[in-house]
Formats: sequence, C-alpha cells, structure tokens
Amino acid sequence: MAIGSANLNIMIKAARLAGRSLVKDFREVENLQVSMKGAGDFVSRADTRAEEILKEALMEARPNYGWLGEETGGAEGKDPTRRWIVDPLDGTTNFLHGMPHWAVSIALEHKGEVVAGVVFDAAKDEMFFAEKGQGAWMNQQRLRASGRRHMVEAVFATGLPFAANKHLPATLGDLAQLLPTCAGVRRWGAAALDLAYVAAGRYDGYWERGLNAWDIAGGVIIAREAGALVEPVVPGESLLASGSLIAANEPLFDPFAKIIRAR
Ligand code: IPD
Ligand code: CA
Ligand code: CA
Repeated sequence: MAIGSANLNIMIKAARLAGRSLVKDFREVENLQVSMKGAGDFVSRADTRAEEILKEALMEARPNYGWLGEETGGAEGKDPTRRWIVDPLDGTTNFLHGMPHWAVSIALEHKGEVVAGVVFDAAKDEMFFAEKGQGAWMNQQRLRASGRRHMVEAVFATGLPFAANKHLPATLGDLAQLLPTCAGVRRWGAAALDLAYVAAGRYDGYWERGLNAWDIAGGVIIAREAGALVEPVVPGESLLASGSLIAANEPLFDPFAKIIRAR
C-alpha cells in the first residue's frame, strides 16, 4: 500500500469510524421497511450521525481547517486555504431500500484544489483513496482506469435525474445517443462510487449533471490519480461548482465527451 500522508491517514480513519456506524444502521434498515416514514427518518438520523462522527474526527485532528458537509453546511476555518468536503452517506436511496451500494466520501481541498480523497464502500469493505501525485488505491491494490479503446466494448455509468430535475431532458438525450454506441449504461445511484469505479476500471466512463461538490470531490481525485480524465461537461466551468462532469479512460474520453457535449 502507498505510504499516505498524515492527512490521508486521518481521512481513512474517519471514514472507517463513520462506515462502522452506517453498517450497523444499515442492518436495521431492512426491519423498518414496513413504514416508509419510519425508515426515512431512521436513515436521516443515520446520515446525520455519520456526519457528526466525521466532523468530530476530522476537525479534532485539524481544528484550523474549514468545513463543507452535506448535512451541516459550510464554515471557513482559521486556515482559509484548506477545507474538508464531506458527504457522510452518498447513495442514500440505496441505503434506504436496503441495497448495499453507498459510501462515505471525504475530500481535502487546498487553495481551491482537491489534494486528497477517500471514498469508503463500508458494506463491501472497499476503501478507495488517492493523494495528488501518489496514485489511486483500493485497499492494498493500485488502481488503474480501464484500457478499453472501443466504444462498443465500453460500459458507462450515469445518474438519472429524479423528481423535477431540470437535467432530465439532456440526460435522456445523452442516453438516446450513447446506448447504440456502447456495451451498456449502468445507473447505480452513488456518484462517489461511480467515480471510484472509473478509477478501478470497472466502468470505462461516467457522466452526470447537477451534482454537489460533496458528491464528487473525493471521487474526482481518485479517478484522476488512476489515470482517468475528468472534466466539466461545459469546458472551462469549474468542476466542483458546476457539479456536471464527464470522466473516462484516456482512449475513450474524446468520443464519449463528444456525445455528452452535443447537448
Ligand atoms: C446522490 C447520489 C446519486 C446522484 C444524486 C446525488 P445522496 O447523493 O450521488 O448517485 O444521482 O444526484 O444527490 O443524496 O445519496 O448523497
Ligand atoms: Ca451525495
Ligand atoms: Ca448524502
């Protein structure tokens, strides 16, 4: 395994603590399915609890850093150049429905750039992590984006907008163009893991519109450090601020991006 910096070790430790709490709650979720409201409230408590655990661990270790968490919002730190960006539970709908595909995501940003990321799939005990310039890892294993070169062999992932989401027409247009060209499109419902899977070469590419910084900050650096290209859907926009991104292995990035950017 790579020898991580002190910060990376802090992140991994925090992710394990939050993951342990979520796994315990996940085992309970199935018993609660009878009442949707009961299950919904239970999951939002699990989510909040996980963020509290992360905040305590990360802010205790680095009290001067800033904070951005999905459940607790943002706060500038004494050190305005560094902040944690945290999604305690990415893939909430899967968690609520008893499907083991969700993760804890933690990123460390320095001067506006993500320098370390951890995405922990606690149900499968897969710890994805990366630091700038140090490569990407899953547990003890070095990660590399896939080497597939032909669209017909490629499997892509996306997130399908739900409720009254303004990105639905564009995403349906993407699917209409992309599906005839490739080996399939998956929609598993956890953006952080979608990026980690691009890093692991499981998906050849992934795109989604309208995400938040906490959904993607941890996964983006992992995908990049594994050799994938990750860019905003609209060239020149900020990746984290726009929340719309295209990630793919190098050989397929251009043909894939051409399809997605046609809308
Ligand atoms: C969601 C997941 C999902 C994506 C949604 C996100 P949450 O995050 O990442 O894959 O399609 O847009 O909001 O709510 O489960 O943390
Ligand atoms: Ca999320
Ligand atoms: Ca979340």
